[in-house]
Amino acid sequence: MSTLKLPGLVDIHVHMREPGATHKEDYDSGTAAALVGGFTVVCAMPNTTPPLTDGETLARTEAAARAKARCDYGLYFGAGADNAATAKTFTGRVSGMKMYLDQTFGPLRLDELGALVEHAANWPAASPLLCHAEGRTVGAAILAANLAGRSVHICHVSRKDEIELIRKAKDKGFQVTCEVTPHHMFLTDADIPTIGSGRGEVRPRLATDADRDALIANLDIVDCFATDHAPHTLAEKDSDNPPPGFPGLETALALCLRLVHDGRLTLDGLIQRMAVNPRSLLNLKEQTDTWVEIDPDAEWVAQGATMQTRAKWTPFEGWTMRGRVERVVLRGQDAYRNGTVLAAPGTGRNIAG
Ligand code: NCD
Ligand code: ZN
Repeated sequence: MSTLKLPGLVDIHVHMREPGATHKEDYDSGTAAALVGGFTVVCAMPNTTPPLTDGETLARTEAAARAKARCDYGLYFGAGADNAATAKTFTGRVSGMKMYLDQTFGPLRLDELGALVEHAANWPAASPLLCHAEGRTVGAAILAANLAGRSVHICHVSRKDEIELIRKAKDKGFQVTCEVTPHHMFLTDADIPTIGSGRGEVRPRLATDADRDALIANLDIVDCFATDHAPHTLAEKDSDNPPPGFPGLETALALCLRLVHDGRLTLDGLIQRMAVNPRSLLNLKEQTDTWVEIDPDAEWVAQGATMQTRAKWTPFEGWTMRGRVERVVLRGQDAYRNGTVLAAPGTGRNIAG
């Protein structure tokens, strides 16, 4: 079987759980999972404990990532109720700002329209602004950003009405980009009984067949595929109060290759959404000394217990995957080869410089 060379994949949406919940994941285990999945850059969300909404937590997170990361990484600053005036002083050290407009894991959320408008106006236009928005808040996020003369990136679009609204906004020339996760393209609420009710909890929730079909039908306006890698342990997922979130770094490429094998997307279209567009969103230059070698036809069975993520489970347990990463070269050095993570903790660099 032939080996294909792809650029290093870039995941703009992961949860590394550090600081505060390293039993779920940390920069060591999370970036090992990234390399297995073919990612050479991962950008970490700020809903940590404490949330990354101030300079002290930023410094603590930078130190943990610098010491432990095996691949390159970026950090997002969290929009809080009381940091709209000061957030922009941290722009140079982070890869963007994240605004949570709806309920999800952790307390970080903006409830007031005024706070959303103020953050969108204050965050520098050259730095990405990413939004967790669902249903009506998608419209609020697009309007607030465009009124401020800047673009906004809508995370994990999961519903038909959302993707159709984004298409209309793009058609009208609004500045908006969006991402879709592999789990929203390949799972629906009908899969929850098989996955298990606690394990099936994720935000945005798994949606209907019609929603899933609409995402696939509108792939042409989907800028990025992002995993929303959100690890929680099996004990937590199987408890009476299961936190929402799926691990995804180690299954994303094979799932997205399914779209190519099924004739829904070209290989170039996959590269655009997993490397080229994420890089351009993050204002990153091309890296000619960083690449991934894959066997697009190699079959393997997804098994959470053998994965690098500390979550040790996957909603795709038992699925036959087609397409495997054989080698990852990061800045000229072998970082992963044939099942072995070679890059040591501390190899990764902060893409914010
Ligand atoms: C994420 C988490 O666990 O941090 N959970 C999830 O269901 N996606 C939070 C988020 O991205 O909304
Ligand atoms: Zn997320």
